[in-house]
Amino acid sequence: MINNFITDQKAKLTVEGKTYEFPVIIGSEGEKAIDIRSLRQETGYITLDTGFMNTGSCGSEITFLEGSNGILNYRGYTIEDLAENCSFVEVAYLLLHDNLPTQAELDHFKMLLSRFALIHEDLIHFFDHFPPNASPMAILSSMVNSLSNFYPEMTENPLENIDKNAARLISKVRTIAACTYKKSLGSPLVYPRHDLSYCGNFLNMMFDSPVKPYKVNKEVVAALNKILILHADHEQNCSTSTVRLVGSARVNLYASISAGISALWGPLHGGANQAVIEMLEAIYNEDGNYNKYIERAKDPNDPFRLVGFGHRVYKNYDPRAKIIKKACDEVLAILKTSDPLLDIAKELEEVALNDDYFIKRNLYPNVDFYSGIVYRAIGIPTNMFTVMFALGRLPGWIAHWKEMWDDPNWRIGRPRQVYVGPKKRPFVPVEERG
Ligand code: CMC
Repeated sequence: MINNFITDQKAKLTVEGKTYEFPVIIGSEGEKAIDIRSLRQETGYITLDTGFMNTGSCGSEITFLEGSNGILNYRGYTIEDLAENCSFVEVAYLLLHDNLPTQAELDHFKMLLSRFALIHEDLIHFFDHFPPNASPMAILSSMVNSLSNFYPEMTENPLENIDKNAARLISKVRTIAACTYKKSLGSPLVYPRHDLSYCGNFLNMMFDSPVKPYKVNKEVVAALNKILILHADHEQNCSTSTVRLVGSARVNLYASISAGISALWGPLHGGANQAVIEMLEAIYNEDGNYNKYIERAKDPNDPFRLVGFGHRVYKNYDPRAKIIKKACDEVLAILKTSDPLLDIAKELEEVALNDDYFIKRNLYPNVDFYSGIVYRAIGIPTNMFTVMFALGRLPGWIAHWKEMWDDPNWRIGRPRQVYVGPKKRPFVPVEERG
């Protein structure tokens, strides 16, 4: 597919007095790339690009992201349109396929999500053997990996029933996430119900109790839908690249997604949403004095970063942050509640956006700056925030895994390195080592 975008233009590279030409690729939204797939073979050189700041690992038809203008589109649809008009299930379908579903396709996908919502009863016993304070991300990652033992058909012919397997995973991860929470409380598990929507079911499994039935609130469902849509894909970020890289070794979908969940856990990636709230709480407990945090973030000798600020790709603004900030105000108004952390977040944003340090480095609030405040408002505990991110990102991971698996140009992912260790030296027997 990527080969269809090779142009007649050439990029020239001169090394050791010899000039080589490499094709220029221009993507469907104008992204320019130099195709160096034959570089090492032709020149004997490799490229060095720590952190992959300039390296495209694949061609993809799923998501377009343009950092300088804050653009994020899934399969050609803007994130603003999707967040305003769609359910998360429609967007999940869109990511997995080329188009938004027709009504019949949507009904079928919803039916699959309902059909696969239960998890095997043996899996439920797994929850009993994690220590009481186990991290929900560790539990989620282990449980998703274990699914490969319960549903081995995925390992045999993964693309044959991808719709079914994607729905199974999307549905079961939601059930596992809610069970993780219930187990952490020592409360009875709540089973999924066929009469509830994807998000409604999740909220019910999280908050229903035999002594206090939960009433699914449609505004809360709408807010959750929006937030999951905003997280549903973000092209080749750390966790998605992990899913692709692990999957490129032809490991099954569950193991690949489990690896993606582990990558997402990191505080520089999905773990940032939890870290933001912890930072805002710390500021609140210190009488709202955020200046100390701004100063620490600016100090080159302090590793502290203002969590929820900055992004590898967005250098103008994160379009998701804009939508979440608005959703945050709406949810608090609908639930007739207020959150002092939201006031601190807004003040902190204001100060940072007018500070030279942040202006020069193009540091703006990212998606995680406000998402935690929405989660808090709807009752999700802080240690579940990154699990919420995983729920949202799941369709994106599956779509990338599928695309990678289906790619005729597929190769196992295997970066190179520049060795800078000791040169070849003679072996020294242990008794002679000084
Ligand atoms: N606070 C203070 N300074 C920062 C921050 C921050 N949040 N982010 C970047 N910088 C500074 C950094 O110190 C560096 O300064 P200098 O040029 O003086 O050395 C400069 O800005 C460039 O930073 P970088 O580390 O080269 O940027 P990166 O593209 O490698 O990192 C990032 C991107 C998101 C990891 C980083 O901005 C960060 O650590 N942010 C805080 C964590 C966070 O909110 N993560 C969630 C990201 S959005 C959700 C997701 O997609 O996972």
